[in-house]
Parts: sequence; C-alpha cells; structure tokens
Amino acid sequence: MTGVVRRRPLLVLACAILAALLVAAVQNPSLAVDSQLAAGALTVFNRTSAAFEKPASNLTPEEIARHDVGDPLFERSHIPLATHEDAGLGPLFNANSCVACHVRNGRGAPVPGVSLVRVALQEANGTTPVPAWEWQVQDHAIFGHQPEATMDLTWHEEPQAGGEPPLQKVQVGLIRPNGDVVADAEMNRSLRTAPPLIGLGLLEAVPDQDILSHADPDDRDGDGISGRPVLLERGRGEQALGRFGWKAGTATVQEQTTEAYINDMGLTTAAGPETNVTAEGQPADITWDELTAVTFYSQSLGAPATSRPAKDPVVSKGSSLFGELHCATCHVPSHGTGTDPDAVVAAIRGQTIWPYTDLLVHDMGPGLDDGVAEHGYTRSAEWRTAPLWGLGLAQRVNGKAGYLHDGRARTVDEAIRWHGGEAEDAKKNYLALSTGDRQTLLDWLQGL
Ligand code: HEC
Ligand code: HEC
Repeated sequence: MTGVVRRRPLLVLACAILAALLVAAVQNPSLAVDSQLAAGALTVFNRTSAAFEKPASNLTPEEIARHDVGDPLFERSHIPLATHEDAGLGPLFNANSCVACHVRNGRGAPVPGVSLVRVALQEANGTTPVPAWEWQVQDHAIFGHQPEATMDLTWHEEPQAGGEPPLQKVQVGLIRPNGDVVADAEMNRSLRTAPPLIGLGLLEAVPDQDILSHADPDDRDGDGISGRPVLLERGRGEQALGRFGWKAGTATVQEQTTEAYINDMGLTTAAGPETNVTAEGQPADITWDELTAVTFYSQSLGAPATSRPAKDPVVSKGSSLFGELHCATCHVPSHGTGTDPDAVVAAIRGQTIWPYTDLLVHDMGPGLDDGVAEHGYTRSAEWRTAPLWGLGLAQRVNGKAGYLHDGRARTVDEAIRWHGGEAEDAKKNYLALSTGDRQTLLDWLQGL
C-alpha cells in the first residue's frame, strides 16, 4: 500500500514535466522538429567522405534490397555494344557512368570529362539551341566517331571592391575535331557541374502547393525577391512543376535519370514496363527495370544530420543571421513532405525536412547570367535556389568540388559574394556583417 501512495507524487511530477516539455515544444518549433535531422526520419548519421553514399535511415528491408539493386547500376561503366547500331555507350557522350560526374553521390568538379557544357545561339536571348548540337555539347565519342567539340576551360580572377578577395570566373572554349575554335559570337556556353544527389526522394515529395505558396513572380510584396515556379509543358494541357537540375528543368528524378542516360551517355531507355523498347520502338540500352532501379537508388538516399545540435550558439546565431540577411527568403529552411500514399519510400511521408531551398528559380543578376535559357522555361539569369543541406560536406566528399552551377566558387564565402539580381540586397547585407558575424554564419553553413 505505502509503496503505491509514495509513487503517486512521482507520477504527478512526471506528468507535469511531460506537459511542460510539450508546451515548450509547441512554443519553440526548433524543439518540436529538430533542425539537426535534415532529412527527418531519413536522416543519415554520418559526416565522413562516404556520407552521401549511405542509404536513407528507416528504409524497410524490401526498400534496402531495391536500393542495393540500383547502386551498382549507378556505378556501372558503360561500353559500346555491337548488338545493333549505336547500342551501348555513345556514339557521342560526356562520361561513361553516373558516378564519374556525381562523385560519391556528391557534386562534380569543374573540369572536362566530369562536367558538361550547355549551349545556345547568341541571338534570341539564349532560347535557341545550336543546330546539330542542340542544348548540350558531347565532348567524347566512341572509337570511330568524333566528338562534337572538346572543352578548354580558362579561369581568370576578377578583383573585387571593398578589400574583398578576388572571385574567379571561367571562360569556356570549344574546339571542333578539325581544330577550329568555335567563335565567341557563335554561341553562348554554360559550364555545369553535377549537383549532389542527396534527399531527392524527399524533395520530390514536397507538395506542389507548398512550393507555389512561396512564389511571388511579380514581387507583389515588394521585397525585391520574386521566385518563379518552372512550369514544364507536358502535352494535353498538362503542366509539371520543375524541381531538379540547376535551372529546375526536370520534374522528377526518373525524368532526370532518363535524360542523363541519353544526353550524358548516349544510352536509350525503355519507354515503359515489360517491353524494354524505346518510345521509337527500338531495343533500349537500359531496360525499364534498370531505369527504375537507378531512379529508386537516388530517391532513397538520405541527407546528413547537421554537425551541431539546435541549441548550439553557432546554430541559433547563424540561423538567425540567415533569416535577418534575407537568405531564408529563397533558401526556405524547412518543408513538409506531404502524405501521398504512393510515396516511393514509405518513411518519406509526413516528414519535416531542412533542405534550405524554395525550389523556385530566381534572377541572380549579370554575374551569374550564362546566356543559356535552355528549352525556354527560364530566362538565362534564372537559377533554382540551390539546396544547402550537406553543404559543409561538399569538399570532404569530393576534394575538387566547387560551389554554384559551374563550380566557380572555391569557398562558400565566394558563392555568397557571387549572388546578385534578386539576391543583391542579401549579398550586401552579408558584406556589411562584422567579421565575427560573418564567421558565425559561415561556421553554421559549414555544419549543414
Ligand atoms: C557528364 C556528367 C554527368 C553524368 C554522366 C551524369 N550526370 Fe547527373 N547531372 C550532371 C549535371 C551537370 C547535372 C545538372 C544539370 C543541369 O542542371 O544543367 C546533373 C543533374 C542530375 C540530377 C538532378 C539533381 C538535382 O539536385 O537537381 C540527377 C537526379 C542526376 N543528375 C542523376 C544522374 C544519374 C542517375 C546519372 C546516370 C544515369 C547521371 N546523373 C549521370 C552531370 C552528370
Ligand atoms: C534571390 C534568392 C536567393 C537569395 C536571397 C540567396 N540565395 Fe543563395 N542561392 C540562390 C541561387 C539561385 C543559387 C544557385 C546559383 C547558381 O548556382 O548559379 C544559390 C546558391 C547558394 C550557395 C551555393 C550552393 C551550392 O550548392 O553551390 C550558397 C552557399 C548560398 N546560396 C548561400 C546563400 C546565403 C548565405 C544567402 C544570404 C546572404 C543567400 N544564399 C541568399 C538564391 C538565393
């Protein structure tokens, strides 16, 4: 008897503590949803150079098995085949495996062979593809064929005002197989490095409505930041919201994977299950099962837990500065993943994730204008707000990686100083920070 009586006050105390914690959690969202868990339940607890190669946490055994089927296909080095004309790699291509460019699933480097060049005719605001080449230069060819052109990258430094260190910019030279240099006036060129492939299934699961709610294409709120959804025409009056690629030019991971096979490696893919033929009725280099397995592989990668807990002073100070400078207007810190019953990975549903992007495109000013508005869905100075999760691991995963679409920024500080256009004010706010505050912001970003 006495034991029960004695235990009761303890029970009351425990309930009171629980209730207080609950109230605190509701009042302070950082307690309710932990920003350290970048990918919610799918967060990967690893910050080594292998962090991006780890499957998401909380996959079911069946999902892990599917992930493991896609992994070797992602790493597979393709070769030309003699089964039928143009079978296998090429005849024209950029690299022979996914992993050649997406090094350890992280970003690529701004060097020939693991990056690519998008092109457009110089007239018509970069919205006209180059005849015979279309939007992308294939700089490799299998034996017996010639590449369209090879790239010659020249880097030069641009001095900066206000005692800031110089920024570097790349000039993309293109040389035809006969040795002729493509004249500058002939076409605009845009060097693209491979983005990191983390958390893609989660980004795919963010409901369209959530993304559209951040759009402000006519800048009605007058804050100088618009944000435009990229609406891709899909025929029969249907549109799909662009989410992937540096300019949000593809809507789904599967679409991006299909394009990677054909554009980057010259490999055709099956148009649907069972038949394993292309839309044109030709035998496909990549079967439907292989295409869906590689797609699932990238969809089931997580994103790493941040290095510091939410209560760390660097996190509270750094994330507040990020908001005060208006970085967070574009790099929207968190999203919900919705409740789609058909989500590719069961655990993806109902998560709060911290990718730091609005998945919209923004005019980033003349410094980042590449003159290539491929497919006409974007203007040439528009870029998708780059997700910042995993940012601090970029160079641990690939020592040669740079930042921004062409890898021109050697450091995160340089990436920020390249911001212009809609982000001009945010950049100015950054430049005006005290040395200490700037370091705190950079330290916080390095922990993402
Ligand atoms: C020649 C280098 C290269 C190869 C090979 C390559 N990629 Fe990419 N990948 C890129 C580049 C560059 C981009 C960005 C394209 C753009 O926006 O212009 C990209 C973008 C992507 C994206 C979108 C990521 C995001 O955050 O939006 C996915 C997914 C992707 N690639 C998957 C693959 C897969 C799967 C393969 C193999 C089937 C592959 N890639 C092969 C260079 C490459
Ligand atoms: C108007 C929208 C906007 C604002 C405001 C903005 N950014 Fe960005 N940010 C972008 C876009 C778009 C890119 C990609 C540009 C590119 O690749 O050319 C980017 C890229 C970056 C990158 C490089 C990411 C990578 O993967 O290479 C970093 C770091 C970054 N931003 C940090 C910041 C910080 C810090 C601030 C505030 C001082 C800020 N941004 C403000 C839109 C914005």
